[in-house]
Amino acid sequence: MTQQRFTKLKDYFRETFEQEPSYCVRAPGRVNLIGEHIDYNGGLVLPIAIKCEIRLLARPRKDKQFHLKSLQMEKTYKGMLPENPLDEPSWVNYVFGVIHEFQNEGLEIPGFDALYDGDVPVSSGLSSSAAIEVASAWFIHNLLQTNYSRLQIALLSQRAENNFTGVQCGLMDQAISACGEKGSALRLDCAIPQIESIPIGFSNQTEFLIAHSGVYRGLSTSAYNERRSQCEEALEVICNISGKNYDNLCSVPMSVLNKVQNNLNDVLLRRARHVIKEQQRVIQALDALHNGNAKRFGKLLNASHKSLARDYEVSCPELDELTSWLQSRPGVLGCRLTGAGFGGCTISLVQKHMIEKILTDLKSEFYASRGINPPAFFSEAEPGASALFTPTRAIIEKRD
Ligand code: GLA
Repeated sequence: MTQQRFTKLKDYFRETFEQEPSYCVRAPGRVNLIGEHIDYNGGLVLPIAIKCEIRLLARPRKDKQFHLKSLQMEKTYKGMLPENPLDEPSWVNYVFGVIHEFQNEGLEIPGFDALYDGDVPVSSGLSSSAAIEVASAWFIHNLLQTNYSRLQIALLSQRAENNFTGVQCGLMDQAISACGEKGSALRLDCAIPQIESIPIGFSNQTEFLIAHSGVYRGLSTSAYNERRSQCEEALEVICNISGKNYDNLCSVPMSVLNKVQNNLNDVLLRRARHVIKEQQRVIQALDALHNGNAKRFGKLLNASHKSLARDYEVSCPELDELTSWLQSRPGVLGCRLTGAGFGGCTISLVQKHMIEKILTDLKSEFYASRGINPPAFFSEAEPGASALFTPTRAIIEKRD
């Protein structure tokens, strides 16, 4: 966050709440490099935190009330903690979900004044909601001085989303927002769960381009939950027919899927095939990262998109068009849709010397000819949540 933005936020906080903020935290959005719709199937995913983030200035209150305001969303909230999600303003539900989860752990949360600010594009597959959850959880963690690990903060934020807002998301978004490290992708094994930072072995030659499709619809809760239950159904059939007790779809070998395929209907077979093959691609992508093999990594991105579009059916014409346009540009090593799908963004691996040309052409050719001007930018892997100041720490915190 720039000094100018920070000063503006502090001034705004003071005007709104007539007090000085005593905490300032941030949590980033994310882009998933590869391993899509894998987290809730118990496999390995490989996201990075991006430069867009949610910032939160806050101060505890003595009356158990929550006064929540956002610089981007018009509606505000003032009152006690609601038991159930609100229709309007809906963004506050991510905050309330987190408070409920801390309470479920037996912790007492005082009320607070909070000002949210951010530049994570919404409904774009870049996890703005997870960033709100993790920023809120990071603030409460600092306020109560809990000894939660970053992974525990991520798990609590995921439960907030599952239990309060009803989206049965996996752990990926909250994990990378809480645990990301500068210059590294996060290898998250969702079955355990376990995290490891993996330095991006080809970052001296390449950059990641995040380009929006112009479709802001995002994957609806119902379509997302439907994919999830189709995977559960496929796993049940595979276990019954093969007589083996697989813990999750990612641990089913392709040879077993091939053997039982006649017992699965076409939709379930394609869903399972995407998951099992995507998991293999993540393992190969990790290898490519270690070996600095950017070309191989790019090819895996292309294959992932095909599988998401054909087998998992979470793409849309605008995403497909943008993906093929980018895939055919010299300097782009690979491209695919990223996040839940049905709109939102693509992720491309681009050779460093071509980045300016690609961004210019993308805007002047692809977007201009369609009359759209959605977000498109390069981002490195940024660090996960941090506190910029707290009453006891007036310095910029790097890592715990
Ligand atoms: C959304 C969910 C994640 C993950 C992705 C798809 O972003 O929140 O948990 O399932 O979709 O990979």
